[in-house]
Amino acid sequence: EVPHVSLCIATTDFETAAKAVLPHKSYVYASTSANYGLSHKGNLEDWNRITFRPRVMRDVGKVDMRRSILGYSSKYPFYISPMGTMGALHPGAEPEMVRGGVRKGCHLVISTASTKQNEAIMESYVAEQHRLNDASPSKLFFQFYMPADRNRAIDLLHRVKRAGYKALWITVDTPVLGKRTADRVLQAEEALAVGVEEEPTAAWEAGHENPLVPSIGGRVVGGFLSPHTTWEDLAWIKKEWKGPIVLKGIQCAEDAKLALEYGCAGILLSNHGGRQLHSAPSALMTLLEIRTYCPEIIGKLEIYVDGGLRDGTDVLKALCLGATAVGVGRPFLYALAAYGSKGVERCVDILADELQIGMGLLGITSLDQVRPEMVNASRLLNR
Ligand code: FNR
Repeated sequence: EVPHVSLCIATTDFETAAKAVLPHKSYVYASTSANYGLSHKGNLEDWNRITFRPRVMRDVGKVDMRRSILGYSSKYPFYISPMGTMGALHPGAEPEMVRGGVRKGCHLVISTASTKQNEAIMESYVAEQHRLNDASPSKLFFQFYMPADRNRAIDLLHRVKRAGYKALWITVDTPVLGKRTADRVLQAEEALAVGVEEEPTAAWEAGHENPLVPSIGGRVVGGFLSPHTTWEDLAWIKKEWKGPIVLKGIQCAEDAKLALEYGCAGILLSNHGGRQLHSAPSALMTLLEIRTYCPEIIGKLEIYVDGGLRDGTDVLKALCLGATAVGVGRPFLYALAAYGSKGVERCVDILADELQIGMGLLGITSLDQVRPEMVNASRLLNR
């Protein structure tokens, strides 16, 4: 039994609710991180290491949190991050997530590794918009995993373009799949359960699933992803895509600069929710690095961050330091798992509420007023 959705007051409450309803395997898929978890832990902790420097007596009676994301006005300075295989979390899968986002006017980035085809997900978006008389400002963007086969890649790009996705977010932090520890425990258990002892290949030949390939989501990625992608590939991708490109998974100042040189519309500072490289920097650390080594790029391209943002005030901290907007991942996935689209709506409301209160208490009425001096990051800079 999950608590009533109105009892979810913080975004972290959705994880408890989801854990109670999900099959163990699905919970593991959502919650797993790389190796022994340092990257994910750092993502969560680093946001807590900076504090605000609030200003008082500033008339904050009316607060406006609108922001522009890739030229599309957004009700919120956050969007729903791309996550694969939502069918493992909720029978309504990605369309259910989309309905929640559209109802709240929140943008979503849809994963290449989705359960449903991108056209079907777009149809659910269009249907929900129709129901709302096209009144929602919500837009869909597409997260692109580069297929190993160039023709397949071009075909996918054309399909996504035709379907009407507004921008391409190319994930660049996954040339190979990270070591997902909890997944591997499950695989080992499954292998033992089907009688695999020390000759796994025999079991595969007997027709069982390959127990060494991640069983959910990762299977798509495992055989699909190209480890050969380089910066030079951006030229032909641009030619085929003909629209804005964001690189998802930038993790140092040098690559942030390169992205600008290669004409990207934006970068997403991310370590993939701590699921890829162990001891990867948090997005916050990378953002601070950019502020130190190449501050001139801030404002020349849009800068997004994700990983471990769990509270509206975390969002505010990122914006103060120069982020255009932020992505939120697992909280939305857990909300979907426990409550379907109602949970997704609730998660948007919680973040927006915290953000609104946070802005007022920080002494600002619009996001144009955020400044780096509104946060104290010295604990992170000096460590
Ligand atoms: C992801 N993420 C991800 N990223 C991506 O580019 N393509 C994908 O298919 C997925 N799939 C995926 C599945 C699951 C279960 C999770 C938790 C994450 C990463 C995601 O877009 C984002 O970078 C992180 O989830 C952000 O961190 P938090 O908010 O989950 O801490």
